[in-house]
Amino acid sequence: MTCHSSFSNNVVSKEIVLRAEQETERLASLISASVTFGDIILLYGDFGSGKTTFARAFIRKILGDPSLIVPSPSYLLMNEYQIIREVQGEVEKFRVYHFDLWRIESCESLPPLDLQTILQRGVCLIEWPSAIEKLLPYEKLVLCFSFFDEKRKVKLSMFGSKWRHLQDDISSF
Ligand SMILES: Nc1ncnc2c1ncn2[C@@H]1O[C@H](COP(=O)(O)OP(=O)(O)OP(=O)(O)O)[C@@H](O)[C@H]1O
Ligand SMILES: [Mg+2]
Repeated sequence: MTCHSSFSNNVVSKEIVLRAEQETERLASLISASVTFGDIILLYGDFGSGKTTFARAFIRKILGDPSLIVPSPSYLLMNEYQIIREVQGEVEKFRVYHFDLWRIESCESLPPLDLQTILQRGVCLIEWPSAIEKLLPYEKLVLCFSFFDEKRKVKLSMFGSKWRHLQDDISSF
């Protein structure tokens, strides 16, 4: 696995032990509470390390439906979810795009993707993002999952000032 090896310095990182699936879900739910248009969350980690578990909990929380079926988009490459929400008295349409690019070896083999438009519409969660790294803006949240006995660990790296608020949000972990 290459865990954002091509990304550079000026990053704040924190490592967290996730003792059970419920802790992965709690982290996802906490992070989902503050996402906005244009946010990008990259999910690295080997097979079975917990990327989809995180994405599923994140999407369920944003959509306010704890039993929503959130399949892994491994074959479709991307699933899209939409909510109409009210923020500070304004009604807005917000989308969550859940990608799984494990089959994609380079961005040349990706189907045409209007990333600019997608980012204007909501938040992107991207499992196996290596192929797309060079198309992405600098500001992003990078989560790198790994096995830790029967549990999991995740290293969070916050690229850019828009993610720095998370340092406080996750201080309870
Ligand atoms: N913190 C955790 N502690 C223990 N088990 C976990 C934790 N998080 C997830 N799991 C378990 O790990 C298994 C695999 O999780 P998941 O499908 O999310 O992995 P993945 O990284 O998306 O894998 P893939 O790369 O194959 O898509 C699931 O059975 C899930 O319950
Ligand atoms: Mg997965």
